[in-house]
Amino acid sequence: KNIALLAGGYTGEYEVSINSAKNIAANLDASKYKVYTILVDKNRWLHETNNGTVDVDKNDFSLTLDGQKISFDFAFITIHGTPGEDGKLQGYFDMIGIPYNTCDATTSAISMNKAYTKAIVHGIHGLNTAKSAKLFKTDEHDMATIASMLKFPLFVKPNNGGSSVGMSKVYNVAALPEALEKAFHEDEQVLVEEFIQGREFSQGIARLHGKITVLPATEIKSSKDFFDYEAKYTPGVSEEITPADLPETKSNEIAAILTEVYTRLNCKGMVRIDFILQEGTNDFYFIEVNTTPGQSANSLIPQQVRAAGMNVGEFYGMLIEG
Ligand code: DAL
Ligand code: MG
Repeated sequence: KNIALLAGGYTGEYEVSINSAKNIAANLDASKYKVYTILVDKNRWLHETNNGTVDVDKNDFSLTLDGQKISFDFAFITIHGTPGEDGKLQGYFDMIGIPYNTCDATTSAISMNKAYTKAIVHGIHGLNTAKSAKLFKTDEHDMATIASMLKFPLFVKPNNGGSSVGMSKVYNVAALPEALEKAFHEDEQVLVEEFIQGREFSQGIARLHGKITVLPATEIKSSKDFFDYEAKYTPGVSEEITPADLPETKSNEIAAILTEVYTRLNCKGMVRIDFILQEGTNDFYFIEVNTTPGQSANSLIPQQVRAAGMNVGEFYGMLIEG
């Protein structure tokens, strides 16, 4: 099969995406799949060859290499943020009839929007979400009003972001304006969310051979104030424990909640859900769902796949085969 591996994108997660693509290409079974990496940026979609770059024909998503036209059987999207995680490429591939590895256009678009996702999953039994407010760049923001609605510390994040780009943790009203400015630099909408004290986890879930499969959880212990971009991608800055140390009853309860989230949001392929177990109560707090989770060699999903006793290349193969 000819596989187009789509990487890059328009956001601060470009580098992360390139690393994800390298790891996917290195692991996919070369005897079954011929992988062509396609770099997507605002102006060009291109494939790099030894003799230079070749543009994709967007009319039918094909490449012409050495005078020969290459069509694709499958698109493996590993772009974090727009246009690969928010439904845009998904809509394009739906229109031209090429199957892909992620959630569909609607679910991708909703899941990219943290506030909408929280609103949809809020109705699930046993599922708590942190109290939050969504702010628009075009509005006037009164810091005192925000501070009176929500309890510090607060997370300030771009509503459609990833990898903690543009995100801050703030402890008092004086720190809010700078945090908002930083987040509005990335996005027109910003989510201000109460911090939930507790243990932090992230856990993959995927449909494999038609069956929803929950991967082992990872617990994240960041030595920084929170799991920011540096903590996520600098080895040694945070400790990631896979599989997480959780009693079986709790793991089962979490697996049931994650399965419900996956089903309610009509997820496809692999996603990774971030959550907190609140200190004291041990209650589950949903943070967000990532529909194109990072796939670099040390990323959480590959860790979890290995911890489940699966081979990473076979896992990606299952996503392609459906
Ligand atoms: N947004 C990053 C890539 C992740 O969720 O893994
Ligand atoms: Mg995320």
